Amino acid sequence: MLNIPPFDVSQQYQQIGSAIDHAVLEVLASGQYIGGSNVAKFESEFAHYIGTEFAIACNSGTDALYLALRALSIEAGDEVITTPFTFFSSAEVISMVGATPVFVDIEADGFNLDLNQVEQAITPRTRAILPVYLFGRPLDLTRLTAIAQKHNLDVIEDCAQSTGATWEGKKTGSFGAAGCFSFYPTKNLGGCGDGGMVTTNDASIATQVKILREHGSPKRYYHEQIGINSRLDAIQAAILLAKLPYLDKWNIARTEISDRYTQYLSGIEGIVTPSHLSGSVWNQYTIRLTGFDRDRVQARLKEQGVNTVIYYPLPLHLQSVYQDLGYPQGSFPRSETVSLEVLSLPMFPELTETQQEDVVRALKNSLT
Ligand SMILES: Cc1ncc(COP(=O)(O)O)c(C=O)c1O
Repeated sequence: MLNIPPFDVSQQYQQIGSAIDHAVLEVLASGQYIGGSNVAKFESEFAHYIGTEFAIACNSGTDALYLALRALSIEAGDEVITTPFTFFSSAEVISMVGATPVFVDIEADGFNLDLNQVEQAITPRTRAILPVYLFGRPLDLTRLTAIAQKHNLDVIEDCAQSTGATWEGKKTGSFGAAGCFSFYPTKNLGGCGDGGMVTTNDASIATQVKILREHGSPKRYYHEQIGINSRLDAIQAAILLAKLPYLDKWNIARTEISDRYTQYLSGIEGIVTPSHLSGSVWNQYTIRLTGFDRDRVQARLKEQGVNTVIYYPLPLHLQSVYQDLGYPQGSFPRSETVSLEVLSLPMFPELTETQQEDVVRALKNSLT
């Protein structure tokens, strides 16, 4: 029987394991386990890669978003517009700073925020827009930037799934007031644990993020604000530094895999393949099963040894914790519909053509 995982993060270690071993052993011998030259070097190389002046490392993508919102002084009474079809963090951080998430439905032919509906959601309390580049696909950042500028709003980019993605040749994470990245192992640039980064061209935001990630202390043991402990470990920084030179190559492999899936699957009645956009980095390849029972198809794939994932089964406005926001069922019909239809197929740079053919054959078998 087949045994194809949805992702396989150990394969990158098999490819460049000796470089990673060397980097980790060096950190272990150095005794510098928090901060130090590896973190500083990773911040500087990541900023250069994204094309921003500053990059400030932290403990996770969630912390990156939280710290960015705090650095922009977004707080109770403020509203932040985002999508209900995303990982929970994107909205959770808005609540964590005391502000209110305001949801806007996704586009008709994709999974990202519908820019046609954003302006209707702006109120005098709106402070920022938080777009998510879901599954590695950017959105029209020329248009989003124009909307934000017109209404004097900040843009905080959730780039957790889009490291390396571009819009018109510029990297996501370099458009807004802040870009927020995750290095969770399955991300396009994944560590061997948690990690995150805030990118910005604004020196005052960079300084604020640095202070907030160190308990609100600009100087050790002198605290001016309530912050958190959100530092990137030196071992993670060393591993991510070793992996960064391979990111573009891995993103190209993901694009080739997605092209092949689309070629194999297009024209099958009842399956909608994701639309392609140059600049997407394909953290996931997510189809919609519009003509079939998605959960049954997923179970049949599993029986054949093909493991898939549902990102995401319940939109955020319908989560129990967000019932007090007052969005009843039916508020965001596109998000609600796709949450019942989406299925993310195995996707990682090392997935072979033969494995892809096996996935597609098993999928076709599961439709009957
Ligand atoms: C869209 C999105 N935003 C935020 C996050 C949070 O990142 P982390 O898991 O590193 O906290 C993730 C990843 O899990 C994500 O997929």
